Amino acid sequence: MEAAGAAGGDADGDGAAALGQRLAAAGQGHVLRFWPELGGAARRALAAELRDMDVAEINRFFRRARGDGGGGGGGTTAGLDARMEPVPRDVLGSASRDRELLPRWESRGLAEIARSRVAVLLLAGGQGTRLGVPYPKGMYDVGLPSRKTLFHLQAQRLQRLQQLAEEQHGTSCHIPWYIMTSGRTMESTKEFFLKHRYFGLKKENVIFFQQGMLPALGFDGKILLEEKGKIAMAPDGNGGLYRALGAHGIVDDMERRGVQSVHVYCVDNILVKVADPRFIGFCLEKGADCGAKVVEKTNPTEPVGVVCRVDGVYQVVEYSEISLATAQKRGPDGRLLFNAGNIANHFFTTAFLKDVVNTYEPQLQHHVAEKKIPHVDITTGQLIQPEKPNGIKMEKFVFDIFQFSKKFVVYEVLREDEFSPLKNADSQNGKDNPTTARHALMSLHHCWVLNAGGHFVDENGTRVPAIPRLKDANDLPIQCEISPLISYGGEGLEKYVKDREFRAPLIIDEDGIHELVKNGM
Ligand code: UD1
Repeated sequence: MEAAGAAGGDADGDGAAALGQRLAAAGQGHVLRFWPELGGAARRALAAELRDMDVAEINRFFRRARGDGGGGGGGTTAGLDARMEPVPRDVLGSASRDRELLPRWESRGLAEIARSRVAVLLLAGGQGTRLGVPYPKGMYDVGLPSRKTLFHLQAQRLQRLQQLAEEQHGTSCHIPWYIMTSGRTMESTKEFFLKHRYFGLKKENVIFFQQGMLPALGFDGKILLEEKGKIAMAPDGNGGLYRALGAHGIVDDMERRGVQSVHVYCVDNILVKVADPRFIGFCLEKGADCGAKVVEKTNPTEPVGVVCRVDGVYQVVEYSEISLATAQKRGPDGRLLFNAGNIANHFFTTAFLKDVVNTYEPQLQHHVAEKKIPHVDITTGQLIQPEKPNGIKMEKFVFDIFQFSKKFVVYEVLREDEFSPLKNADSQNGKDNPTTARHALMSLHHCWVLNAGGHFVDENGTRVPAIPRLKDANDLPIQCEISPLISYGGEGLEKYVKDREFRAPLIIDEDGIHELVKNGM
């Protein structure tokens, strides 16, 4: 065909000719349509991109994903409603209903951390399209008094947790932090960590690795071009994790370090309790190989997946895949029937991850998202900005391995303690944006101060009523921020705040606690 011939006839020689033939044979020869117009550097870049791409495999992914509607949990989305069942009580633990068990779970988790058997794995390969910033979400500053970014908060929580485990067990320990980035986020993420000297963590315990990318396709399965010499690529979903774990030898690294439990989480939740010892302890006590942390979903249209069973197998039905009628169903207690809201905090044993990487990963199917994908028209060469969806992106999802678990458990926590995701820009709507994230964190820290016996007074010295929870996004919280280096989950604050009165804003951090408190800052 013409394009293949064009590539083949170029000075780039036999390699380009072979590439052209391979693409043509896979029905994707059109991606070289503009080859004759490209300069040397552009040709080399395109050829390099295409050489790394297994087009026959991409065609197979497309056929499979399209063939069954893309239900990654192994079924069609059609008829899903009838096959969904809520999580049964016996696999459920709850931070509020099982209060008496929390100390036991926590101490089990801390003991594992003290033995350096726990790692955290951050999914940070997303493009943050909804937030609309040109850099990775973890670098976002939501406007806290300290101006700490999401990465900074997470790093300091890890440090504090290591310290707590060391204090309790008298051993030195570390929590390796695996950070999955994508082609779009790798360089800036690494630079950011370097610039901030790994936020006080040891460099060798922060391990970056990169997930794969896939081309966006038209509805006919043809690869789309972003520019005449550039394929429209996107990360292959947070379930790209499992392929990346294998490709970069990450499970081997975990084994070398003696890691047995891994807490996998998403970058955008400002309240995330990284390596939460209670969650880890709960999963270990239950003998689980896989676990999910959830909050109660109370609004049927909230954009969270729900953990449930489909045909008797555990999975998350994503918010984009559940019907409104099913999302609205209520149980006899008046609560949503499918209320186990996925907050993208997962527990896996290293052994389970190893099985997934070695055996199950190829069985995972891509989910299909129909998108408006800017692309170059193959006939005219014009750049098209579509107004309605014109193609698909294929993604695997991190929770699609639940189906392979031999012992799956669910741990429910309180939303106000653990979940406030940053998804949207402030201008978009009143939900899940920098303002709600900042308020959620300050409101939680206000609670911690009250629980530790501290009080807030207004400018007249009158005590502020102890009702810190915010009802809506317009309510302003008491300005209160406690450094994660001082407290991981509200512990250890009595010595700073008990029986004392503070005027907001109150900041308690490792440098200026007393001075700030005394001055009523
Ligand atoms: C995700 C969950 C959803 C959950 C919600 C809670 C998935 C597939 N969905 O939805 O069930 O209720 O969070 O906030 O997990 N990422 C990558 N690589 C990619 C794509 C995403 O690493 O290719 C990372 C992102 O950086 C982010 C996380 O995965 O940390 C979640 O991605 P996002 O697209 O924001 O997921 P949601 O649609 O919000």
